[in-house]
Amino acid sequence: MTIPKIGIIISTTREGRFADRPANWIHEIAQQRADIAFELVDLRDYPIPMFDAPLSPNYAPVDNDHTRALVNKLSELDGYIFVTAEYNHSISAVLKNAIDHVQFEAWAKKPAAFLGYGGTGGARAVEQLRLIAVEVSLVPTRAAVHIGMEPYLGVWKEGKSFNDYAHLVSSAGLMLDELAWYAKTLRTGRDVTTTETALAA
Ligand SMILES: Cc1cc2nc3c(=O)[nH]c(=O)nc-3n(C[C@H](O)[C@H](O)[C@H](O)COP(=O)(O)O)c2cc1C
Repeated sequence: MTIPKIGIIISTTREGRFADRPANWIHEIAQQRADIAFELVDLRDYPIPMFDAPLSPNYAPVDNDHTRALVNKLSELDGYIFVTAEYNHSISAVLKNAIDHVQFEAWAKKPAAFLGYGGTGGARAVEQLRLIAVEVSLVPTRAAVHIGMEPYLGVWKEGKSFNDYAHLVSSAGLMLDELAWYAKTLRTGRDVTTTETALAA
């Protein structure tokens, strides 16, 4: 059996974004694990138009190239880390738009962990994202990484590394441990369900 694979979703796309720094940092830490594989999934690579389909994707998959490509990518993965900024106390419109386009089967029964950054460590965006995650049948984890203003400015303006902040390194470890447990457990559960469904057919 292959090891579970987690997508680290970079969920802002604006020019000059900060997102690459926390995404690359958590990717580097995550790659030290042997039990889970990780890859970056950058929403810049999936420039999906604003949602205007006649039906929810749960009733009819959205028929455009970028959405199909994103759904295919998400379907390959066993869980996700959402790297999220806070835009007006919520997630970016780009991320919400992407979530709205994806039928819930691509996300269903997979764990979602969170790395937020901003004035309150992106906490308000992460809390909102947890609520959205439940609706698309993701399983949100409790542990998360919150990069507050001091490390945000330290990395952006003062040439520091996130590794200079012990609380971030510690929370990254806890978040990855919890995510790994859910990724393995839920994949086993999905495999059993698929087998049972096949046997019952
Ligand atoms: C449209 C917009 C709204 C923002 N709203 C918030 C906010 O509500 N809370 C906050 O802490 N930061 C807010 N910010 C500042 C962002 O935290 C900061 O710009 C961050 O770098 C954005 O992530 P990005 O660089 O990856 O786009 C906002 C930024 C933008 C562009």
